[in-house]
Amino acid sequence: MDQSHQGQLAVQFVTDTEFTAALGAWTHRPGPRYARLAEAAGDAIAQGLLPAGTRLPTERSLAQQLQVSRGTIVAAYAELADRGLVARRQGSGTTVTAPGRRTTGRHLRNQGFDRQISGPPVPIDLSMAAPVYDAIVADLGADTTAVLAAGAPVHGYAPLGLPALREGIADRLTARGVPTTAAQILVTAGAQGALQLIIAAFVRAGDHVVVENPTYPGALELLSRSGAALDGIPRDHAGPRPGLFRRALEAGDTALALLVPTCHNPTGTTMSEQRRHEVLAAVRDHDALLVEDLTMADMSFSGVAPADLVALAPDRVIALGSFSKILWGGLRTGWIRADPATILRLGRLRTAQDMGSGQLDQAACLAALPRLDEIIAARRRMARERHDVLRQALAEQLPDWEVQRCEGGYSLWIRLPRANAAQVVAAALQHGVAIAGGGIGGLDDSNLDHVRVCFTLEPDVLVEAASRLRRAWEQVCAGGETAPALAAI
Ligand SMILES: Cc1ncc(COP(=O)(O)O)c(C=O)c1O
Repeated sequence: MDQSHQGQLAVQFVTDTEFTAALGAWTHRPGPRYARLAEAAGDAIAQGLLPAGTRLPTERSLAQQLQVSRGTIVAAYAELADRGLVARRQGSGTTVTAPGRRTTGRHLRNQGFDRQISGPPVPIDLSMAAPVYDAIVADLGADTTAVLAAGAPVHGYAPLGLPALREGIADRLTARGVPTTAAQILVTAGAQGALQLIIAAFVRAGDHVVVENPTYPGALELLSRSGAALDGIPRDHAGPRPGLFRRALEAGDTALALLVPTCHNPTGTTMSEQRRHEVLAAVRDHDALLVEDLTMADMSFSGVAPADLVALAPDRVIALGSFSKILWGGLRTGWIRADPATILRLGRLRTAQDMGSGQLDQAACLAALPRLDEIIAARRRMARERHDVLRQALAEQLPDWEVQRCEGGYSLWIRLPRANAAQVVAAALQHGVAIAGGGIGGLDDSNLDHVRVCFTLEPDVLVEAASRLRRAWEQVCAGGETAPALAAI
């Protein structure tokens, strides 16, 4: 957004593209078209994506951009004016006047785990973005006597982690371009445990936290439970929209910003180098704390990605990662990299929580370290192959599903041409396939038209899954359960 000053008022000009991004999947909302548009714009204003002073696009250019009639835009803007959210002046357009709350107040659940806790098993589960038990996991076989040599105390309690594993993780980060000592590493219960500790240490109820929208749903549930006020920044394939990210930090009340720059979950995209610099510039300018989630970072198909944010700004970024996506989620072993004083603080919290991770799981990770590069290469090969198989099978079975570009990780992010994703998820379950949808990782309704389909199972199972998904899709379409017909105004 550009800024100019008219008298006392700082006017922000939002481009058509930025405005459209802030609206999300507005066509999937209920009601006549103008009302859906007004609702979506009202939500974006409430979330602070279109702050007071924002000059909205002209009626003509927005009508072109959204491919609706000019009358629809006129009615939507009139509705926003009636609700006191914008002011309309002849010659100076439509300007946001409401202050904006900037946040979501929803309780955000990691829906992917609903079935792991209480649902019946599903024949083909494509809902979990993690490698399944295979020869790599079977070979982990840790020597339990090795834990003492690795520095475990004889009583087994070591809240900061197994010393040799802390050292090994530090060495790997150093080799990755992030000089790190063992004193800067805390071993955690997976990346989820890392997020939990960081949120417990830095976020109080009511604090603002900036996240991408969508983002990793497990982080959203933790943040939601902490009582944080979440500022969700819409993203494109290059990362969070930089102008909106900066604006969110401008308010000056952000406890932390959490980003998943490489192999983002759920979209599978990797933040561009330029976007990384833009994000870091905003973080520096507003003296904010940035948390970088590197859980999927080794899983880029090409094996290359722009420098980690923590490599670009090692003193400003707390990084976290995990062995779950390169070895196995069942190990429940991850890590945090921060300055030594923060590590000690987080270690105290960990002591209060559960006194640290199991030594035997850590010993299994430690034993894998010497061949980890080899294992990662094998995981990437597997992921790329299965990605190609599922993508091809979906292209054949469901050509009108819009599969987004995927640069790594274990899942496809798919835009459905018509139906509400929740209906497709339910129909897929009837055909024995579990997928995630209905807004997974979203802070609002902007991704209700997307599903996430993971490709970690065997290739022939993926092919069978695609054909079952086609049958599920046909069922949804035949049932007339698609989004209501767009009402012309
Ligand atoms: C971005 C991201 N962060 C954290 C996690 C949690 O990982 P873990 O199994 O290590 O707790 C995941 C798992 O899917 C993830 O994708």
